[in-house]
Amino acid sequence: MKKISSGIYGLNGLLDGGINENSTTVVIGMSGAGKTTFATQFIRRGLEAGQEGIFVSLDENKEQIIKEAIEMGWTEILNFIEDEKLVFIDASGLEFSQFIKKELPDFVSSWKGANARIAVDPLTPVIWSTSDRYEQRDLIGFMLKETRKVGTVLCTLEEHGTIGDLSGTETVIPMYLSDCVIHLRSCFEAGSKLERKLKIVKCRSSSHSDQEHPYSLMKGFGLVVQAGDYPLTSLRDKVDDFAIDFNKVEGKIPSYVFKRLASSLKDLRNRDLAEVNTAELINAILAEYQDFE
Ligand SMILES: Nc1ncnc2c1ncn2[C@@H]1O[C@H](COP(=O)(O)OP(=O)(O)O)[C@@H](O)[C@H]1O
Ligand SMILES: [Mg+2]
Repeated sequence: MKKISSGIYGLNGLLDGGINENSTTVVIGMSGAGKTTFATQFIRRGLEAGQEGIFVSLDENKEQIIKEAIEMGWTEILNFIEDEKLVFIDASGLEFSQFIKKELPDFVSSWKGANARIAVDPLTPVIWSTSDRYEQRDLIGFMLKETRKVGTVLCTLEEHGTIGDLSGTETVIPMYLSDCVIHLRSCFEAGSKLERKLKIVKCRSSSHSDQEHPYSLMKGFGLVVQAGDYPLTSLRDKVDDFAIDFNKVEGKIPSYVFKRLASSLKDLRNRDLAEVNTAELINAILAEYQDFE
């Protein structure tokens, strides 16, 4: 699995190295949580790495997005547009099912072979375009499949109602169809000051953070995330110690079991061992195969 940088300071380490290439990520949050900022940073990071950027906006117009990006410190955005490295698809006001089924495939075939980053901001109006759940699933599924053909996709979703309740159909369908889900929780805790916390709900094939992380929106820096007490550094030292002890059981258990377990060690992180007494585990493994000659 190849990882690419998200473009958000502080986030890659929490995602086990970054966003999976050619995957779909969904960013969910209330209005003002920082979704458009997130999407812009994701695209910008790709452009800086020589990728193309495609910004599909279903809500705000292109001018507004550019204006806000410049205010957040991305002054070179106009150069990328001029060089045609960054394109905007303004689908606001279009009939979405028509757009997704007809215009999108044409667009995708014209970008064949590209290694782009695609942002759809926000995906919510597509879901609202029909009340039939199967049609919603069909439309979103088709859209994600098409866009993934030209690169790595990031969609944003508006959060409504009770914060953190991600069980409504409009969030469930895109979450289910995507590889990575990030929740930007932004609300007034106990009516006092605005609290912002980022949580990775899922990220396929990745040992990602399972904690909430404070984040801020900083002019010039964009969205920045704090690891808090999450162990970013020395992700592996406990695992390495465990490996040294584990290697001593070689010859005392069947060799196929030893090989299988030894090869699983490379995927472990310290946090996988947080609740595990490794000496006890090694004894249990030895006990399991005590009849082994
Ligand atoms: N120049 C700025 N400096 C600091 N924060 C800003 C600036 N511009 C916008 N913000 C913050 O970003 C928020 C909007 O972010 P945005 O990405 O548009 O949110 P969303 O797309 O989720 O509605 C604003 O509510 C504000 O808190
Ligand atoms: Mg927005």
